[in-house]
Amino acid sequence: MLLFSTLCALLAVGKAWGQSSTVDAYVASQSPLAKAGLLANIGPSGSKSMGAKSGIVVASPSSVNPDYLYTWTRDSAVVFQVLVDQFTLGVDTSTRGEIDNYVASQVIIQQVSNPSGTITTGGLGEPKFNIDETAFTGAWGRPQRDGPALRSTALITWANFLISESNTSYVTNTLWPLIQNDLNYVAQNWNQSTFDLWEEVDSSSFFTTAIQHRSLRQGVQLANALGQTSVVSSWSTQAGNLLCFLQSYWNTAGYITANTGGGRSGKDANTVLASIHTFDAAAGCDALTFQPCSDVALSNLLTYVNAFRSIYSINSGLANNVAAATGRYPEDSYMGGNPWYLTTLAVSEQLYDSLIVWNQQKSLNVTSLSLPFFQLFDASVTVGTYTSTSTTFNTLTSGVKTFADGFVATVAEHTPSSGSLSEQYSKSDGSQLSAADLTWSYAATLTSFDARAGVIPASWGAKGLTSSCSISTGGGGGGSSSGTVSVTFNVDATTVFGENIYICGSVDALQNWDPDTALILSAANYPIWSITVNLPANTQVQYKYIRKFGSSLTWESDPNDVINTPSGGSFIENDTWR
Ligand code: NOJ
Ligand code: NOJ
Repeated sequence: MLLFSTLCALLAVGKAWGQSSTVDAYVASQSPLAKAGLLANIGPSGSKSMGAKSGIVVASPSSVNPDYLYTWTRDSAVVFQVLVDQFTLGVDTSTRGEIDNYVASQVIIQQVSNPSGTITTGGLGEPKFNIDETAFTGAWGRPQRDGPALRSTALITWANFLISESNTSYVTNTLWPLIQNDLNYVAQNWNQSTFDLWEEVDSSSFFTTAIQHRSLRQGVQLANALGQTSVVSSWSTQAGNLLCFLQSYWNTAGYITANTGGGRSGKDANTVLASIHTFDAAAGCDALTFQPCSDVALSNLLTYVNAFRSIYSINSGLANNVAAATGRYPEDSYMGGNPWYLTTLAVSEQLYDSLIVWNQQKSLNVTSLSLPFFQLFDASVTVGTYTSTSTTFNTLTSGVKTFADGFVATVAEHTPSSGSLSEQYSKSDGSQLSAADLTWSYAATLTSFDARAGVIPASWGAKGLTSSCSISTGGGGGGSSSGTVSVTFNVDATTVFGENIYICGSVDALQNWDPDTALILSAANYPIWSITVNLPANTQVQYKYIRKFGSSLTWESDPNDVINTPSGGSFIENDTWR
């Protein structure tokens, strides 16, 4: 208690002075509490796992308001990525039993038929299951296609370690089938729409695209290492398409638009989480993969953080170069729409990851795009490259370190002495809200702390990637593309005699949204109406069908339909009128 009140006293002055040692103290006391909190939520023996089966992670023990007593594929994979990273990097080698249990549990979960389908018909996109490993059959935002990508990434990290330990037979017999199921799903379905990681917007989503891309790159490496080469060509092709599509989320206003649908600003922790979950220190500050220290990712971080300064009263009065509480996205109203621990910690982690790379490469680059970010720490800094022997490098990196620590200090300030972390903390008084003991909050704590300590996760192959779709950050958000794809649109629509179905959309070939010149479809296979058009390759195209009957014109309901065209060849899109 004495220690805690000392900590509080230090926190009070932390923003002006002594913040670094305050954060040091918080890291030291909170690390074991966060690890214990995380392990408590894993069955069968976790003290708060409420009877979950072996290896099953409960999102939170909270069973009412909100009821989180389920196991989400996403949360579980994020949690086990931490345990696997810590094990394989030698940070904590005490959790091998849990990791083995997780693997065994996912062998079962993958096979459970559920409302998204069976293992071969889309069931891998199911977001959550009951903690006894049966299907959850209630209404939900499904599918969520980030789950298989995150899970396979955690399993591949584990597989690579086991191969280095010469345990290849377990990898081939047990891990590989799981990984192959997930990555075939990713390769086949990535350009279908998905609910975002917040389970609300059904469109394409930056986080999902980014981690899908990463998962396939790692999958190709593992397949080659195991001699499982039959998947290599398909996974490589789709990885290339994903990397291309990833570029299209860039918004010329200087940030990443999180979702293609949803009708929001697009400023969203989705993008910061994507950056830290695809960190590869070997790739330096590569912008193509939105590495944490890339100019695109830093400009995005600044935009994201600033979006919360005026909407949470606990942030009021804080200068722009001082850390603030951040949440999922500024328009959020779920459980009151408050800051989240895991999103505030994600900002700190992106900054710690950046420091790792700048210190490793002994230089730092300020571009016109990242200039406003770096000006937070040195108003007179200009565009250029600063080596580690320069004063500017030292001013900027120590400024970034203080800024990063400020996000951890914000979390520390709203952590009770028990170390328990819920999902949210109040935007008006900082008290804990929503699901208690959120497992993901503990995972986010541990990864931020590890990054602060300079722990470098294993590379996944981001280094040296190229794409013909690279963005021009000065202007023009979309990827440049060459070539066309022949796309057949089929839509199931019941019509009355004399009524016809048309299509229009966001590109020239679809009449740039002009309903008067929309293209008519053929009813040769009624009730399937069809048309084949040449669309630009590697492009995100939005469109809608229209019904015309005499002078009346009816658009399909919102949102717009979206396809991401492949790099060439032909493509069939099957829709149902809505
Ligand atoms: C429950 C989901 O878990 C959460 O992410 C979402 O914000 C709310 N439903 C509201 O849609
Ligand atoms: C709601 C969050 O939005 C979602 O990302 C998470 O998977 C679930 N809660 C469970 O923690």
